[in-house]
Amino acid sequence: MTDSPFAFGLGVGTHNQSGEWLEVFFPKPVLAPTAALADTVAALQSDTALSHDHLESLHQSLIAAGATEQAQVAAQFLDSQAPVVAVLLCQDSAPASVPEAYLKLHLLSHRLVKPHGTSLEGLFGILPNVAWTSEGAVDIAELGARQLAARLRGEVLEVSCVDKFPKMTNYVVPTGVRIAHTARVRLGAYLGEGTTIMHEGFVNFNAGSDGPGMIEGRISAGVMVGSGSDLGGSSSTMGTLSGGGNIIISLGRECLLGANAGTGIPLGDRCTIEAGLFVTAGTKVMLLDVEGMPSQSVKARELAGKSDLLFRRNSATGAVECLTNRSAIELNTDLHAHN
Ligand SMILES: CC(C)(COP(=O)(O)OP(=O)(O)OC[C@H]1O[C@@H](n2cnc3c(N)ncnc32)[C@H](O)[C@@H]1OP(=O)(O)O)[C@@H](O)C(=O)NCCC(=O)NCCS
Repeated sequence: MTDSPFAFGLGVGTHNQSGEWLEVFFPKPVLAPTAALADTVAALQSDTALSHDHLESLHQSLIAAGATEQAQVAAQFLDSQAPVVAVLLCQDSAPASVPEAYLKLHLLSHRLVKPHGTSLEGLFGILPNVAWTSEGAVDIAELGARQLAARLRGEVLEVSCVDKFPKMTNYVVPTGVRIAHTARVRLGAYLGEGTTIMHEGFVNFNAGSDGPGMIEGRISAGVMVGSGSDLGGSSSTMGTLSGGGNIIISLGRECLLGANAGTGIPLGDRCTIEAGLFVTAGTKVMLLDVEGMPSQSVKARELAGKSDLLFRRNSATGAVECLTNRSAIELNTDLHAHN
């Protein structure tokens, strides 16, 4: 008997010509599958495509185990031309294969786990760089031949991007969201109900918004934005993937990151950063009337996670100032009521 497995998914994906996985689509990933389901699939290899016979017997076993939804997925896969895989993650350990990595990215985008809620250690080393084309995922080494083949048919192979991550909406469209430009949200993003991403908005994997929220800025990997918050046009949140930063950024509820503003510290609830101001961890901030704090100059990192702050750059002196935020934002309810 398998003890409390972490997750399970039956997926269909793409191999390159050498039979290596490029990507996998899991229509119905499961968090914390039942022990009966886990026992049924325990013997299967999580990186090997299932033969038709294997799939047929898996289908029967899933029915016998009472795993109706997964049995339905298996039934739909029986006639698949594309390779099918069953992935059981007994624990939440670092992903060890492309199917395991894709299952974890699906868990995030299906809102089954929150950013930082699953180990993604070593993800970049596992995921291949892929050409995402109008014919699906193509191995970069095979792209030239596929482009030529399309031309010889009188067609153009459209390459939308070359990246390790596909766009989320080709795999998952969570309920109650609007995404103006789908290429700006990577698989592995977490978009809570009521999240609107405008054209300038961007959401990386292992990052997202609790929703409702208005996202016209960039949510970097690892960053989570609380409900009722607004990221103004072209604002940015510092990630930790490159550039040496190691503070994990988050925004609390009802925060406003003004247009072209940015934050390198986590913000508490109801914080505002003035349009155009980028607050980094080492920015010297003059406290003007912050409740419970004397008027003095502090480094912004000392204000990390504190609520009800308004940051602005004094337009006369250039000094960055912090005041108690007396007029936290409210989202435009009309915009968010109709997702
Ligand atoms: C920082 C911000 C929130 C302040 O807005 P506010 O709270 O409405 O403040 P006001 O503009 O009414 O200004 C209040 C006072 O502070 C002063 N003030 C405002 N910004 C200042 C600055 N940068 N330096 C010096 N004084 C400033 C005002 O002159 C005013 O002074 P007064 O009381 O003597 O008249 C606003 O300027 C801002 O940047 N909003 C972001 C909007 C945005 O980008 N949204 C996203 C759209 S995509």
